[in-house]
Amino acid sequence: MTRAIYPGSFDPFTNGHLSIVKEAAEIFDEVIVIIANNADKKRMFAIDEMQKAIKEILAANDISNCRVIIHNGLVAEYAAENDIKYMIRGLRNNIDYNYEEDIANKNHVINPDLKYVYFRAEDTAISSSFVKELYKYNKNISDFVPPEIFKLFWKQSHTTNSK
Ligand code: COA
Repeated sequence: MTRAIYPGSFDPFTNGHLSIVKEAAEIFDEVIVIIANNADKKRMFAIDEMQKAIKEILAANDISNCRVIIHNGLVAEYAAENDIKYMIRGLRNNIDYNYEEDIANKNHVINPDLKYVYFRAEDTAISSSFVKELYKYNKNISDFVPPEIFKLFWKQSHTTNSK
């Protein structure tokens, strides 16, 4: 059974992430989406709320060989502990490539057996920050995020009134 982890902040999960999960789920027997912490980023959405939304997105898209977990430690260590050999990341451009290679080199120190698999992102303009920025300026983001994520934006702006 070939398993892969797909870690990220997913704050929020976008259609770009979804397209990578779809492709990965066709190639690997199981894909584990890991919502992890990037120490340089402050989250907009609660991590457990995002986990629930991603699970709903997977169900709505009939992706049954993928699960979603929250992990607060090192992702390369998680892979080693669970005997997972592959790590998926999405690439939009050469800036992503340089950033990813830097993380890959660090992860290689932690877990030398972990192999990277890059997926080419279809829409190179989408990022989680870009979607948040558009929403902040009252632009329509429904083309960029699944409906379950759109609901989270709506909920957050209507409960905190601070979008
Ligand atoms: N579609 C849309 N957006 C994409 C994308 C795609 N196909 N591919 C990349 N991106 C964007 C994301 O939206 C995100 O945008 P943002 O910067 O505006 O938020 C950005 O590219 C990359 O973010 P993400 O994929 O969420 O990863 P990250 O860089 O925030 O986090 C972790 C990387 C969580 C995997 C890393 O911090 C980590 O592994 N943390 C756990 C601790 C650890 O193991 N540390 C050791 C590694 S140094």
